Formats: sequence, C-alpha cells, structure tokens
Amino acid sequence: MLLRDFIQEGRRALLLFYPPQEAGNILTQLFSARLGLPPHTPLVHPETEIPPERLAQLQGDLERLLAGEPLQYILGFAPFYGREFRVSPAVLIPRPETELLVEMALPFLDAAGPGARVLDLCTGSGCIAWSLLLERPDSIVTGVDLSAEALELARTQFPDKAAPHFLQADVLSRPRIDGGPFDLLVSNPPYIMETQKAQMRRNVLDFEPGMALFVPDGDPLCFYRAIAAMALEQLSPKGTGIVEINDALGARTAQVFVKAGFSAVSLLPDLSGRDRFVKFSQATAK
Ligand SMILES: C[S@@+](CC[C@H](N)C(=O)[O-])C[C@H]1O[C@@H](n2cnc3c(N)ncnc32)[C@H](O)[C@@H]1O
Repeated sequence: MLLRDFIQEGRRALLLFYPPQEAGNILTQLFSARLGLPPHTPLVHPETEIPPERLAQLQGDLERLLAGEPLQYILGFAPFYGREFRVSPAVLIPRPETELLVEMALPFLDAAGPGARVLDLCTGSGCIAWSLLLERPDSIVTGVDLSAEALELARTQFPDKAAPHFLQADVLSRPRIDGGPFDLLVSNPPYIMETQKAQMRRNVLDFEPGMALFVPDGDPLCFYRAIAAMALEQLSPKGTGIVEINDALGARTAQVFVKAGFSAVSLLPDLSGRDRFVKFSQATAK
C-alpha cells in the first residue's frame, strides 16, 4: 500500500473525531514513529510504499485511534521539553503548557545555585521532575505521587541517567517530605472540576486516569490548600513555588496562597493568555 492511500483512508476516518489539522498531525507522527520517516515525507513523497510487514501494525494503530485512544498511549511515549517520556494509561500525557512551568522554574534553580533542592508534587510520569534534573544536573529533585504505577514509570524513564528521588505519598494529607527545606516547589495537581467534564473530549475522559485529572466540584482547590500548607513549612525562606492551575479559578487559586501567608503571589498566563500558573514566595525572596 502507498503512503498516499493509507493517508486518504486514515484521514477520512480520523476526521470524524479530530479537526483536519490535528488528524494530519496524528498521521505524520504515526508514520514518523512507526516507519522512521521524516515529517515531510507524506507531503513530498506520497508515493512511498509502506513496507508490507508494517502495514498490519499501522492498521491496528488506526483502529485504536478510531476507538478514541490517544496516539501517545498507542506509541507509548510523548514529547516533553525536548525529550521523549514513556507514558501509559497510569499517567497523564504531559501537556505543552506544563513545559512553560519548567521554563519558568529554571531561573529559580539557577538563582539557588548548585545543590538546589526541588520538590515536584503530583509528579505523574515525572516529566517536570526529570526535565528540571536533566536541565540542571547539579540540583536535587524529589517527585511525589499517590499512584504506585505512575511512580514505577517515573522511576524508569531514563534508565541510563541518575534519577530524581520518587516517593509515594498522599499530598492531601500534607506529608513532610525528606530532603527539604526546598528551594523550589513545583506542581501540576489534579484541577478539573467534575462539571467541566462536559467540555472535555472523549479520548481524554475515556483513556486518561481520572485521579490525575479531577477534583470534586465542592472543593476544587483542595490540592492547592495542601500544597500551600506544605510549602509554608517545607520551602526555604527564600524559596519559590510555581503551580499549574485551572484557568477558570485563577483568582481564587491565587487567594489560597495569599491566605496561607505568602506575601508575593502572582497569576501568570499560558501561551493563549489564560491564567495558568500561580507563583508564590515571601516578599523578601529574590
Ligand atoms: C495532572 S497529573 C500531573 C502529572 C505530571 N506532573 C504532569 O504535569 O504531567 C496529577 C497527578 O497527581 C497524582 N495524584 C492524584 N491524587 C494525588 C494525591 N492525593 N497525592 C499525590 N498525588 C496525587 C495523579 O496520580 C497524577 O499523577
């Protein structure tokens, strides 16, 4: 079968679920991962023959895509901050906006200097913890999650590199974490309200882990209260925290950190201008 024919068939089917550009991107990524083709091949050489021994796998992939499964789970990896992270249905697929959190955090690691101590709460695949450690190998990074399966995956992301410390704990019970006081606290906790489910795509709802996504409507800021309480006790006096947030609850989330006693609290936008992060520290901090 020619690439062109597979694309035509695949695109027609995927358009039932995805906008045209996304359908095209998914197929390009699939060919790149499964056939090792550069992204421009489908456009420039659509007459490329798909090796017959690969066809069955590609058709299986397409069926899974049509059942709504995210491409990243099918391939078993997702890109994040310039690296490929292994993913499974036990972990959230890392999102591009979370890369911004890493970007914003790095200057605080630099300011803290060699040996900077970092705490990543609700670490999931470990994408934030690993990215910070790999970008700044002289830092000491600890990642915490409740899910044993997520932690297993996080620990083994890059077997040939020195890993962050990964610990199992329930953030809502505000545990004391070994290795502090921390210079930097980062977190992308669950923050989607049950009432927001109606606006979400089926492939997220049906395949990504509910415990990574949802918080009760009655108490949507529970993780931020726990994080603020932990930060108050476990951040060093000059430490900084950066958390990813629900853009529908920006001001209320910032207030949690003000109420907890942080004197410098700011709301920061993502690339589409939505309130996406809260940064907090004591005013005397640099
Ligand atoms: C939104 S995901 C973030 C994962 C990863 N940090 C990222 O940015 O892609 C939230 C994570 O919180 C974890 N989690 C849920 N409830 C928790 C709890 N009570 N204590 C610790 N971690 C929890 C989930 O297992 C999930 O890995």
